[in-house]
Amino acid sequence: MSRVLKLDSNKNYSFYNIDAISFMKNHLKSNSIDLIIADPPYFEICGEFDFGKFKDVKEYLAWSKIWLLEAKRVLKDSGTLILWGGVGHKPLTSARLAIMIEDEKFFNIKNWVTQLNTRGIGAKTNYMSAREDFLFLTKS
Ligand SMILES: C[S@@+](CC[C@H](N)C(=O)[O-])C[C@H]1O[C@@H](n2cnc3c(N)ncnc32)[C@H](O)[C@@H]1O
Repeated sequence: MSRVLKLDSNKNYSFYNIDAISFMKNHLKSNSIDLIIADPPYFEICGEFDFGKFKDVKEYLAWSKIWLLEAKRVLKDSGTLILWGGVGHKPLTSARLAIMIEDEKFFNIKNWVTQLNTRGIGAKTNYMSAREDFLFLTKS
């Protein structure tokens, strides 16, 4: 599905309900964006967008690599990518993403920021999940 939602035609913004990779490829020029805030699927952690969409972690990382490189292309040299991820759940895909970004030098990892949530997600056989994390990444 591809859809553009205009909440207020007087305002200079749009919401696109569209595949992020094709959106960047078809709508965004290279070196044109200051900030990207991404909360992509985490891989079999939270929703229908996570389960069954990717055959395995390898396929998930291959897909992540495509959108990360597109994000790098469209960001200005001074640009920032905030990449949300779920930490503390197997198969630790946030950590795998961070290592891939570092090893393949996609972005500079400026910081790994942890937010303490006031309410956690209960777990009978594990510590309560009361945190969310994002990577603060810069292009240069
Ligand atoms: C971890 S959730 C983010 C939830 C969001 N931060 C919120 O609070 O509602 C991942 C989201 O990515 C969306 N998604 C999955 N594949 C996508 C794609 N190829 N392009 C754009 N969005 C995608 C899913 O529909 C899902 O809403």
